[in-house]
Amino acid sequence: MTGRPVRVTRQASLRSFGRSFGKDLLTVGAIPRDQVAHLLRLAEELKALQRGGVLHQRLAGATLGLLFEKPSTRTRVSFEAGINQLGGQALFLSARDIQLCRGESIADTARVLSRYLDALVVRTYDHATVEEWAREATIPVINGLTDLCHPCQALADLLTIREKKGGLKGLKLAYVGDGNNVANSLIEGAAKTGMTISLGCPSGYEPDPRIVDCARSEADQTGGAIEISQDPHAAVKEADVIYTDVWISMGQERHQARRLKALGPYQLNERLLKQARPDAIVMHCLPAHRGQEITAGVLDGPQSVVLDQAENRLHMQKAILVELLSRPRRRS
Ligand code: CP
Ligand code: NVA
Repeated sequence: MTGRPVRVTRQASLRSFGRSFGKDLLTVGAIPRDQVAHLLRLAEELKALQRGGVLHQRLAGATLGLLFEKPSTRTRVSFEAGINQLGGQALFLSARDIQLCRGESIADTARVLSRYLDALVVRTYDHATVEEWAREATIPVINGLTDLCHPCQALADLLTIREKKGGLKGLKLAYVGDGNNVANSLIEGAAKTGMTISLGCPSGYEPDPRIVDCARSEADQTGGAIEISQDPHAAVKEADVIYTDVWISMGQERHQARRLKALGPYQLNERLLKQARPDAIVMHCLPAHRGQEITAGVLDGPQSVVLDQAENRLHMQKAILVELLSRPRRRS
């Protein structure tokens, strides 16, 4: 039954539906450009339907597993709410509570879960781990954050930027601070959509060079650009969007003192914000540490769109689920 609307309160045909990418969603870089554009349109359509009070159960009967090795508020709740709104159900699986923690292999767990579930969101440390889940599972696997990247966040952020700025191509997105998983996925997203992303990161905290290389090739074709310097002021100059993220990501707690020292000059504060365009929007994937990577005045100020960003996780992830789950597939 998965993928067929079984109860439609009002007719809800999704114009943008039906041009799916591969089995899994592991990185933004792996999604063809036209399908990034398609996901953005579908997410906008799903958001408009929800705002208009239209209920549709495109994924009635589907069960989405969420296997998390790290904490989460937004990713977990937006996926759980999203699959429920689409008529399916979510099953949260803490990695600490299943036999994985007693040594059962990813291969065996993935094959077994593929017999029960329709898709699996995985949040883990090493990116190779989510790749292994995707290889072993016969169901779609969605990357809910690894140390390398955070694709659902970046796709939702593209939606937010497009809503606020009316388009993406030609915009300047500045990212200041740690060149981490969120930065890596934003680089891929900017390259796909023809934005210039300008990063100001301290030495030793630059984004992943493999991602930067691939994104530069893609940006050559879209009119985008990837600029990397150690100067946060140059990065934000004339920017349309300024983005930052935490200085200590999950799993990096033991490096706290060194990171705080290196990243201190990269705080997104009122002085830095003044160097961007006056209509620049401020973004942060949350959770935030006020007084570290961003001041309270900027995070809670009039240019901040962080709550719209958090909301758009829901709409974008519903689009991802509709795309990945609405296809006939083998169950074993
Ligand atoms: N931005 C984000 O992914 O938040 P969570 O860690 O709460 O899921
Ligand atoms: N860079 C952060 C993002 C949290 C959503 C982390 O990995 O902890």
